[in-house]
Amino acid sequence: MDTVIITGGTGLIGTALSNYLASQGKEVVVLTRNPQSHRSASPSISYAAWNIDEQSVNEAVFRKAKYIIHLAGAGVADKPWTEKRKKEILESRTKSSALLVKALENIPNEIVSVVSASAIGWYKQNQGAPAVETDPADSGFLGETCRAWENSIQPVTGLGKKLVILRTGIVLSKDGGAFPALAKPVRYGIAGILGNGKQMISWIHIEDLCRLYMESMLNPNWNGIYNAVAPHPVNNRTFTIELAKKMKGSFYLPIPVPDFVLRFMLGERREEVLKSSYISSNKIKHQGFQFIYPTIEAAFRELI
Ligand SMILES: NC(=O)c1ccc[n+]([C@@H]2O[C@H](COP(=O)([O-])OP(=O)(O)OC[C@H]3O[C@@H](n4cnc5c(N)ncnc54)[C@H](OP(=O)(O)O)[C@@H]3O)[C@@H](O)[C@H]2O)c1
Repeated sequence: MDTVIITGGTGLIGTALSNYLASQGKEVVVLTRNPQSHRSASPSISYAAWNIDEQSVNEAVFRKAKYIIHLAGAGVADKPWTEKRKKEILESRTKSSALLVKALENIPNEIVSVVSASAIGWYKQNQGAPAVETDPADSGFLGETCRAWENSIQPVTGLGKKLVILRTGIVLSKDGGAFPALAKPVRYGIAGILGNGKQMISWIHIEDLCRLYMESMLNPNWNGIYNAVAPHPVNNRTFTIELAKKMKGSFYLPIPVPDFVLRFMLGERREEVLKSSYISSNKIKHQGFQFIYPTIEAAFRELI
């Protein structure tokens, strides 16, 4: 049975991905800062320790693994962006990548490929033509973080490993992240349209994302950077109204949430919800990837 190491595999994506890979016959070892605080949902999933500050890792798992999926990183939306938090967001990614590179250099291993998360925060605000993988990074905090994150894992290619980077859109899952947060006010009949509502949201359903991680990890034809987004992004107004219709029928009230309220509530993080991200999925479609949830209607049908 092939073994997959998943860093940060205790989070939203990692938990779903561990279960999915286990269901597909893989053995999963999650690298976590706290292995003792997790109990496995399956005999095929176990937990091993790493310490990013001390740059130490459980060596045995590298000797037996065939693949690495790198998800670890402090949550971008979880806390206000103080200078201290920004440093943590950046360094949790770059230092964990550095630890993986060091481990692959120093521990004898037969790992063939590394798939690393990145985010569509790479791209500049856009609305017209969809952004493609060759577009330059934005100069804001998220763009710079994604650039440093992607650069930090790049050295694995010099060690003969295949590297895939998935610039991931907003992940829609019942279990956490953006979707439950956006659905909460709608439950009370309030459809809060953020800013002018025209900003594009490039999203992906968690199940499609898990399939994409596995496909890009296993298939030798996948190499380099891909946008992990569904083929039909929608603007914030459409997203919110469709969500409200699915959840409440006609019993909802569209309420604009102006910029100054978002600034008060979110500080600098308001950038995230007001930035228009219109991102192309053409590259993964050309790879032959078939979406189960290509439209927001299909995604909401499953999520609600
Ligand atoms: N969810 C999305 O919509 C989305 C969109 C684009 C990109 N991504 C990226 O995909 C990756 C996984 O996303 P997710 O939503 O699953 O994230 P998540 O739920 O926040 O989980 C990330 C994991 O990273 C580890 N971690 C947290 N803080 C850390 C720190 N300071 N140092 C080292 N490790 C730390 C944690 O594992 P332990 O506590 O077990 O160590 C945590 O379970 C992230 O890098 C995220 O930026 C997510």
